[in-house]
Amino acid sequence: MDLEKLLTDRLAPAFAAVAGASVDPVVRRSQHADFQSDAALALARRLGRPPRAIAADVLARADLTDLCSAAEVSGPGFLNLTIADKTLAGLVSALATDPQLGVPVVAESETVVVDYSAPNVAKEMHVGHLRSTVIGDAAARLLEWLGHQVLRANHLGDWGTPFGMLIEHLVDLGEAEATQEVSMGDLDSFYKAARVKFDADEAFRERSRLRVVALQGGDAVTLRLWRLLVEQSERYFLTVYDLLDVTLTERDFHGESSYNDLLGPVVEELDRLGLLRESDGAACVFPPGSVGRDGELLPLIVRKSDGGYGYSATDLAAIRHRTGRLGATRLLYVVGLPQRRHFEMVYAAAAQAGWLAPPARAEHVGFGSILGPDGRMLRSRAGGSVKLVGLLEEAIVRATALARERNPDLGEAEAAEVGRAVGIGAIKYADLSSDRHKDYVLDWERMLSLDGNTSPYLQYAYSRIRSIFRRAGVAARPEAGISLAEPTERALAFELVGFGRVVGEVAENLEFHHLAGYLYRLAAAFSAFYERCPVLRADGPVRESRLVLCDLTARVLRQGLYLLGIRTPERM
Ligand code: ARG
Repeated sequence: MDLEKLLTDRLAPAFAAVAGASVDPVVRRSQHADFQSDAALALARRLGRPPRAIAADVLARADLTDLCSAAEVSGPGFLNLTIADKTLAGLVSALATDPQLGVPVVAESETVVVDYSAPNVAKEMHVGHLRSTVIGDAAARLLEWLGHQVLRANHLGDWGTPFGMLIEHLVDLGEAEATQEVSMGDLDSFYKAARVKFDADEAFRERSRLRVVALQGGDAVTLRLWRLLVEQSERYFLTVYDLLDVTLTERDFHGESSYNDLLGPVVEELDRLGLLRESDGAACVFPPGSVGRDGELLPLIVRKSDGGYGYSATDLAAIRHRTGRLGATRLLYVVGLPQRRHFEMVYAAAAQAGWLAPPARAEHVGFGSILGPDGRMLRSRAGGSVKLVGLLEEAIVRATALARERNPDLGEAEAAEVGRAVGIGAIKYADLSSDRHKDYVLDWERMLSLDGNTSPYLQYAYSRIRSIFRRAGVAARPEAGISLAEPTERALAFELVGFGRVVGEVAENLEFHHLAGYLYRLAAAFSAFYERCPVLRADGPVRESRLVLCDLTARVLRQGLYLLGIRTPERM
């Protein structure tokens, strides 16, 4: 259990007795003591008493003897709390023998669908898909580690009108040539060439239109050509996932087309429930909560006027399937913020239809854009969208060069491996360490730097600890007694015992920059400790205790980075 919770549990009854109502003690880390509680200040007006008197009353009633070595009223009415060394040491010892590193196993495991990555067939993955892939994978890893049943859903864009033109372009190119182009990931040129012809050539447009009809009608030849495009694209996306160390596999592709048979029933059920209304020839739902400028409810198009289904219908079918068939109670959609309105409307409509009822709930895990050094949307030199793989390769090349430069002893193979782990880690960490609601600037120098809140800094901290053990040829004994005499030792211990709390919070809000920030504070606390406290040169029990602190730090760093999808090389 974490210290904030332990203190809160002790202080809450005392506050309740003094205030005559339940009060959150608002316990947090403090500059002046280990923790402080500010709740007395907020109570002063309501109780008509000076805050210091309230705080003193609370102290008199709270039972803190076994937890704290000191507890006092300070300033205008804070409670300053100093944790007893014995208590802190006991928590560290418990952590050392806990394979979960203080992260409580969830009381009730639920089925969670994580909808992420979701690139579009025969179209290059762009940086938005990169963010979705990186954030979604971290969510999947984290929730799985906590004991939830995680279903990864790669909602591939593999259906719809563009396929008329894509298939016709494939026919023009010849199957062999087209397959080659797509499987190599030359998706941008493939898509653009099709688009150019579509815009310029009336006959091609007509062929494309007929091809869409054939595709929707289930024409065997057309379906075979369509499948070719889907399969080659999937193969290519899998190579990107592999490069990125992302846990998505071929079993997780559940493209839009996989819901085709469910679209009819969705419309029928909405109709039966009286939720469908016609608007400009299209069948629409008008879910509550989303209004346009004129104050009227906005339509969510379920079936278009030409009888076809679109993005929203597919998402409704997917929700119905995920809650009804898969039994999921938490649905996460890791998709850029521009689609917020779409998801709000889809969730509201699904709720109206009874497909999304408590305990089931859906959350849009939205995110901002990646910006170039000029602070504008990231663009290639030619002005087009940046090819994702190019970005990843550049990261690896840069990181490998840096690895060679920093450590000339690394062999060729090891330098390549370190370069890959550091380069990919840097890209992912740059993303996950910034508040996902905001845009961030892609800055190579910063993200590959060994200083600051970066993945190389954390990976380096990990490898440095591992080298302590390697050099000395020793291992930590988790059951060794813990002594915390030095201030830097105590500070490190506080960070270590805080891991469980952070992980629990991030499982709720999926704000991975809090986990990143925590790991950074931990690594910095380790650094300060290691500067002040000799480990191998210390004697007997102190050395044993410090080895446990070192080992725990390495384990928490490795686990934390694993949850972010980042490797931890043993040497750098
Ligand atoms: N393919 C879509 C795009 O590229 C993202 C799909 C997100 N998932 C979903 N269930 N709508 O924008």
